Amino acid sequence: MYDRRMDTAIIFQIQSFLIMSLIIYGATQAKKRNRHIKIMSTAIAWDILLILQIELTRSAIKKASEAITNPMMLNIHVSIAVSTVLLYFFMIYSGRKVLKGEATFTSKHKRVGQLTIIMRILTFVTSFWAA
Ligand code: HEM
Repeated sequence: MYDRRMDTAIIFQIQSFLIMSLIIYGATQAKKRNRHIKIMSTAIAWDILLILQIELTRSAIKKASEAITNPMMLNIHVSIAVSTVLLYFFMIYSGRKVLKGEATFTSKHKRVGQLTIIMRILTFVTSFWAA
């Protein structure tokens, strides 16, 4: 049977790769604040749009497909992906605090930022389990 699920998975994973690259690049641009903020906001918005695309199409395709996915591996991927989105909210919150000049947030934003990047890379890597 022709599997449409595989088709969309490739498109999702290309987007996922581009978003991940954007976040890594954006972190290298943190000293240029305006540029950093534009890149990170775009990446976060795009990532949330990607999740919506996956949810909207998968719920429709799932019924028609008999894809064999290891549920434990899928759960690990989903948990990492959800944690990453939660970290995004902290990054927006702490980034705004840094902009307001609350110095205590600078190191938090940096450290949690590094964690966010690692989690986003893991989201991409584990997405191959779920595809
Ligand atoms: C996924 C989202 C984000 C990640 C991974 C991230 C990561 C980072 C990292 C690693 C640094 C420290 C860079 C360094 O000192 O070497 C940094 C700095 C900074 N970030 Fe973000 N960031 C994100 C989103 C944001 C957002 C949404 C804002 C603004 C609302 C923001 C504002 C800033 C500011 C103002 C700095 C300080 C730059 C400076 O040292 O002058 N960041 N970010």
